[in-house]
Amino acid sequence: MAQGWHIGVIGGSGLADGIGLEDAQDITVRSPFGEPSGPVTTGRIGAVRFSFVARHGAGHRIPPSAVNYRANIDVLKRCGVTDLLSLSAIGSLREELAPGHMITIDQLIDRTEGRARSFFGPGLVAHVSLADPVCPRLAGLVGEAARAAGATVHPRGCYIAIEGPQFSTRAESAMYRAWGADVIGMTAMPEARLAREAELPYALLGMVTDYDAWRESEAGVEAAEVFAVMKANADRARAAVRQLAALLPADRVASPIDRALDHALATAPSAQD
Ligand code: ADE
Repeated sequence: MAQGWHIGVIGGSGLADGIGLEDAQDITVRSPFGEPSGPVTTGRIGAVRFSFVARHGAGHRIPPSAVNYRANIDVLKRCGVTDLLSLSAIGSLREELAPGHMITIDQLIDRTEGRARSFFGPGLVAHVSLADPVCPRLAGLVGEAARAAGATVHPRGCYIAIEGPQFSTRAESAMYRAWGADVIGMTAMPEARLAREAELPYALLGMVTDYDAWRESEAGVEAAEVFAVMKANADRARAAVRQLAALLPADRVASPIDRALDHALATAPSAQD
């Protein structure tokens, strides 16, 4: 096994069948945060350990608003993952980000509502830094891996997370562009927040499926279009994960994100008993 790496993967639309792990085993992991989307599939690719959760569950039954993001991250953390990769379908808010292209995002805007977005709360208060929500090391490696798998990969961009489940209106789509968002999806928040609280370096490999609704001359986005493009891209996403296993450095050097809580806890230690 490669020293120290254990990559958690949360796979979105089109990836419910997993990422093609060797010696794969499905395990049920319990969480105090409730039911995760399904079992954790744990296995390896070559010398690297991977653990996988299908974000929307078997048969795509869990909508973005009902995904238990806390439980999904908690069970992966309990399995010992060191880093977390999200594979997600996204809409494009920029001409140059064409359907079929991939992107490693580096920033996020959160427009979701009412989702449980923290592991902390009354009794134990923590404020982690989220200025840079994505791990540059993991994102760089993932981008390189996706390129090696033959994808056109954009190295940075800002993702806006909407509540859904409906796609956006044309006015919203235009507004998100004016805000500086480059791509749009329904799941990266609160996932990225929670990954940071769990001290897991997080990267998101987005697969562009559509141009959302901002192009006046075009029909708005349809779910069938999103799923068709995702289906065509799922094999490339799996190939990117295989490439990632091949190009991870042999030893994992500790990341500052591994210790994100060191300066984040506000509750006095005596009050934590
Ligand atoms: N996922 C894929 N395409 C999307 C879009 N246009 N809006 C929100 N989520 C998406």
